[in-house]
Amino acid sequence: MKIYKKTADLQKELQLLKKEGKTIGLVPTMGALHSGHLSLVNKCVAENDICVVSVFVNPTQFNNQNDLEKYPRTLDNDVKLLESVNCSIVFAPTVDQIYPEPDTRVFDFGQLDKVMEGKFRPGHFNGVAQVVSRLFDIVKPNRAYFGEKDFQQLAIIREMVKKYSIPVEIVGCPIVREADGMALSSRNMRLSANERGKAVLISQTLLKSCNFVPEKSVSELKQWVIDQINSEPILEVEYFDIVDGNTMQSINSWDDTDYPVGCITVYCGEEVRLIDNIKYLKK
Ligand code: PAF
Repeated sequence: MKIYKKTADLQKELQLLKKEGKTIGLVPTMGALHSGHLSLVNKCVAENDICVVSVFVNPTQFNNQNDLEKYPRTLDNDVKLLESVNCSIVFAPTVDQIYPEPDTRVFDFGQLDKVMEGKFRPGHFNGVAQVVSRLFDIVKPNRAYFGEKDFQQLAIIREMVKKYSIPVEIVGCPIVREADGMALSSRNMRLSANERGKAVLISQTLLKSCNFVPEKSVSELKQWVIDQINSEPILEVEYFDIVDGNTMQSINSWDDTDYPVGCITVYCGEEVRLIDNIKYLKK
């Protein structure tokens, strides 16, 4: 496995590999890797000749300085994990390698980024689009892999490649959960044992909520989920919405879509913001 910190060095290597006809897969990450990331890497390794994993905590997607500073950085451990799953190349650049000049691009995603994460974290998806488009430009991968835990992010990246005609196949990968159902996230590392114990209520409630579709109305189900989770004093729901899984827009009735998805963000304690989602099947 090779590790590159400089964009020009990585590009030189990739040019050689492409001349040999090798296909390139990219897994963009912010590091602090866990089994969820490794499931993306495993798929990328299986489907491409070369698997490139980027490890870069992107400052432009954080709208909260404290969140950026506290984001876990564990490069040595990340490198060991990536070696163990046969990753070919790690790209771990510094900020100036990704943004030699400040990135002032403003992306337009219509209504997709005006709701949920886009509404509660203004500018977040513009920052994601900046870094992901930069990485696509540097690596020029055939395929790129993203987790469905960041459900709205995946929709926005699909829209970005379509709208800006970027020739990359976007591959979405299912959420990986702990044995008790908790969605894996780098942010889980910041939870105390007590908080981690209580946070499982988020995924348990989402899972249970599936049993009430379509008997409860959309608004009744939303309220039920929020009440269940908020009944635990350490947890506070920031938003829970049931949306069309393609457009990300709220639905009012189960008949509004064939693809209803419940998307949630919950604060666990004062600082740790956890997200999760569930696809509802209409019986
Ligand atoms: O999902 C993430 O970890 C990040 O948003 C991404 C896609 C790596 C961009 O920084």
